[in-house]
Amino acid sequence: MKITAILLAAGQGTRMKSSLPKVLHPVAGKPMIWHALQAIRQSTTETPVVVVGHGAGEVTQYLGDSAQTVLQEPQLGTGHAVMQAEALLKGKTDLVVVCYADMPLLRGDTLQKLVDTQKQNKGPISMLTVIADDPRGFGRIIRKDDGTINAIVEEYVATPEQLQVKELNVGGYCFDANWLWDALHRIPQNPKKGEYYLTDAVELASAAGLPVHATVMDDVEETIGVNTRVHLSEVEAAMRRRINQAHMLNGVTMIDPASVYIEADVKIGRDTVMMPNTYLFGATEIGEGNVIGPNTIIRNSKVGNGCKVLSSDIEGAWLEDDVDMGPFARLRKGAHLGNHVHMGNFGEVKDSHLADGVKMGHFSYIGNAQIGSGTNIGAGTITCNYDGEKKHPTEIGEDVFIGSDTMLVAPLKIGAGARTGAGAVVTKNVPEDTLVVGMPARAIRKLERKPKKK
Ligand code: UD1
Ligand code: MG
Repeated sequence: MKITAILLAAGQGTRMKSSLPKVLHPVAGKPMIWHALQAIRQSTTETPVVVVGHGAGEVTQYLGDSAQTVLQEPQLGTGHAVMQAEALLKGKTDLVVVCYADMPLLRGDTLQKLVDTQKQNKGPISMLTVIADDPRGFGRIIRKDDGTINAIVEEYVATPEQLQVKELNVGGYCFDANWLWDALHRIPQNPKKGEYYLTDAVELASAAGLPVHATVMDDVEETIGVNTRVHLSEVEAAMRRRINQAHMLNGVTMIDPASVYIEADVKIGRDTVMMPNTYLFGATEIGEGNVIGPNTIIRNSKVGNGCKVLSSDIEGAWLEDDVDMGPFARLRKGAHLGNHVHMGNFGEVKDSHLADGVKMGHFSYIGNAQIGSGTNIGAGTITCNYDGEKKHPTEIGEDVFIGSDTMLVAPLKIGAGARTGAGAVVTKNVPEDTLVVGMPARAIRKLERKPKKK
């Protein structure tokens, strides 16, 4: 059986007061419409169709080949919106699932139940409803004596009696496709707003004696639609709770989940502890047994196992295992810290590899550098990598000792086992096992390297 979703996303979203199309506003780091597409995937078999209108260019560009799009211009209501997909889908699908792109909390499991309800239904429509005390402006569900649904009445036309009804139209439907294409042309134009309401299809079915069934949802939170930025913040909070709970159930400890912010795509291994006020953004992957935070932001980065990251800011970086970072350390794009690297307070690393066991305790900037294993970077060391026009590389060998406040003027190579004196300004390559001092530093004697402590 072929099942295709139509996602309605043509509305203007006026109340968002935004130049960004409503469905592209992010929730947990991903556009609302991404969440809607995720939910649809489980219960449908074909590529979904998104109805675009306001901001069509931006939305279509975002979607890429994750969906087909049809343009609704002008926007004459939800029924009219679905009609735009007829030419594309007629004869190509058995069931049609319709939902709104501004409901990012709707779960795939819920849509699956809806589709299952319709598979059992002899009539042409099944729909999602919820029973709630706060009507949120939703359409009211009017049932027949036999329990099937008679009509959906929009709030602004409802009688005082109908306004009392607690069963609400969530905005998720599953239709028999053949019936739908025909019925859409019979939906009357709404006399007040001039629109064609998809919800009126329910009355058409019911008047013809065809049963309309409901999947009644029990989680009201899932039904929140975003119309304003207040709703957006409610949805964000709910999504964050959901994401954090999933990680905790997978073995991640959170001392205070309310202060942990994790975006939708992030992966975290078990026995990692997320301390308060921590943020994991983008395509970040955290391994097992780490302690992250407090007060840490990690974006688009990879962290191995057994690391400690305290009060630090990490972006586009890779930490291998047992790295000890912070407080107040900063990693930028292309920073790669090997196993057992120690990076203390007020350091910055960019586009550089610090091999296993490198120690960089305090106040340093390392950019465009390769640093050999076991090397010690003294307090206040700077790679002077930028001459005002170009970035230049610095190569430091293994077991080097860079004295405090050394300026490494790139391009520069420092051989294994070498040493620089405190305050040295190094402008020329330093051979292996050589001590340099001064400003600019000059060679003063040859050194003897001690065997490595294991
Ligand atoms: C709709 C339902 C209402 C339900 C509520 C749940 C109708 C007539 N009413 O009302 O019963 O309780 O959702 O949130 O359907 N859209 C288009 N093209 C259009 C008009 C709308 O694509 O011409 C899209 C919008 O972008 C939005 C969705 O359809 O994603 C719903 O439209 P909206 O105007 O928000 O309908 P509601 O008044 O909320
Ligand atoms: Mg709405």
